[in-house]
Amino acid sequence: MPTIHFLREQLHIDCQAGVILRDLALDTGVQLYGFKGRLGNCGGCGQCSTCFVAVASPKETSCLSSRTAPEQRFLKTRPSNWRLACQAVVQDSMVVVTRPQSGWSGGDEALAAAATAMGSPTQGNAPPHQNHGNHKSNQEDGSGADGDALASGDTGEEKLST
Ligand code: FES
Repeated sequence: MPTIHFLREQLHIDCQAGVILRDLALDTGVQLYGFKGRLGNCGGCGQCSTCFVAVASPKETSCLSSRTAPEQRFLKTRPSNWRLACQAVVQDSMVVVTRPQSGWSGGDEALAAAATAMGSPTQGNAPPHQNHGNHKSNQEDGSGADGDALASGDTGEEKLST
């Protein structure tokens, strides 16, 4: 059973493989969206690019499904470990930073360290796990919509402190 460590929120969530990362985050009360996304988002259709997350895996395996067409489009200039949460289907355990466009304490080094610690047999001070085993994926073909909701350069970025 995959475990998702939301680094910013210091939350560990156990879930079924196949759940959409956005659904898991929202169902567990994780604030996935920044200001712009809270004002309006596409509801998980891959059209607004407001659900950015940065991920790292404790294993060498792929922790998420492959990038969909909307992700190929919206993440062209983003780091390779960024995803659109609404397009990403959980396959294995990982560490997630929500709203990476806002920055996060320690940056990529903190993300990598958390992933390493997560994969370690002794997780030290890991917070208690929540189990959300009833999550199911509703992503059928992994392609998502290739919408045109935002004008060029409108990437949902914001400047918020963490
Ligand atoms: S919620 Fe709109 S792209 Fe993910």
